[in-house]
Amino acid sequence: MQEQLKAIMARVTEELKNIQDTGALEQLRVSVMGKKGELTQILRGMGSLPAEERPAMGQLVNQTRAALEQAMEERLQVLSEMEKQKRLEQEKIDVTLPGKTRSAGSLHPMNVVLSDLLDIFTGMGFEVVEGPEVEFDHYNFELLNLPKNHPARDAQDTFYIEDNIVLRTHTSPVQARIMTTRKPPIRIVCPGRVYRADEVDATHSPVFHQMEGLVIDENVSIGDLKGTLDTFARKLYGEGVTTRFRPSFFPFTEPSAEVDVTCAACKGKGCRMCKGTGWIEVLGAGMVNPKVLEMCGIDPTKYSGFAFGMGIERLTILKYNVPDMRYLYENDLRFLSQFR
Ligand code: PHE
Repeated sequence: MQEQLKAIMARVTEELKNIQDTGALEQLRVSVMGKKGELTQILRGMGSLPAEERPAMGQLVNQTRAALEQAMEERLQVLSEMEKQKRLEQEKIDVTLPGKTRSAGSLHPMNVVLSDLLDIFTGMGFEVVEGPEVEFDHYNFELLNLPKNHPARDAQDTFYIEDNIVLRTHTSPVQARIMTTRKPPIRIVCPGRVYRADEVDATHSPVFHQMEGLVIDENVSIGDLKGTLDTFARKLYGEGVTTRFRPSFFPFTEPSAEVDVTCAACKGKGCRMCKGTGWIEVLGAGMVNPKVLEMCGIDPTKYSGFAFGMGIERLTILKYNVPDMRYLYENDLRFLSQFR
């Protein structure tokens, strides 16, 4: 028995040196001192010893056990300290590394122009109104004096959903909706998305944005239209910018005009942007056709009004000198981040 104890002592001492982690140490402890461990077995075998040998042998077993426990405890201290150091090493954070920067977004240039427009027109007392993009033929065409056989209804310009439902081709149906539901005085602007079956190029897109304006009251004259648009042009593009009216035709206005604004790039001197003319076309406008007023239930002998429509892409391109409209749709950050 004595020999056995010595052998255990020697073997464990040797094994302890080689053990490198606390898990293996625990296994060793159980295999020696656990319920079925070697030392425990020996202790059990003491019953079969002659009574006079038991006290001395008991003492020896206890000494051995105490010595083993101490050796294991010491090894445990060393190993836990090693493991702690290793964990600290692994979890080390270099607080001097630069942080991740998050870049702030910015408004899309068209949204910048749109909010400028809304500021300008609400500042002149206009109310902002919106309407549906999927629109009845009735509002998009009929009430605007575009009869069934008008070329603008041709399928090549208009996306049809059904015979009498279209994707609106302009924001003018919103003025028709307002005229049929409200009484003058009316003073509204209607920004929104519009659709036309156009090929994509530097100045065209099948989906684009317009803003419509409509004023109806007693004694509204073409002078009011001119004054309103001059004010708008000056506020959007700066002092010294004005408008020029050229006779034109729209079924829903009479008389009608195409409206040019002083070229903002050269201030009217003539440059590449304005093809040397000093003017750039940005609007359609005119006095609301009395026939339209009548169809919408407004008495044309008592009331008159003006309307105008502008393309927001075009206004944006001109304001920022953007060479191609497609930049506005591609969401390329190299382009967009220039408008901070
Ligand atoms: N709706 C016309 C267009 O889309 C623009 C316009 C609006 C012209 C109002 C006159 C009056 O081309």
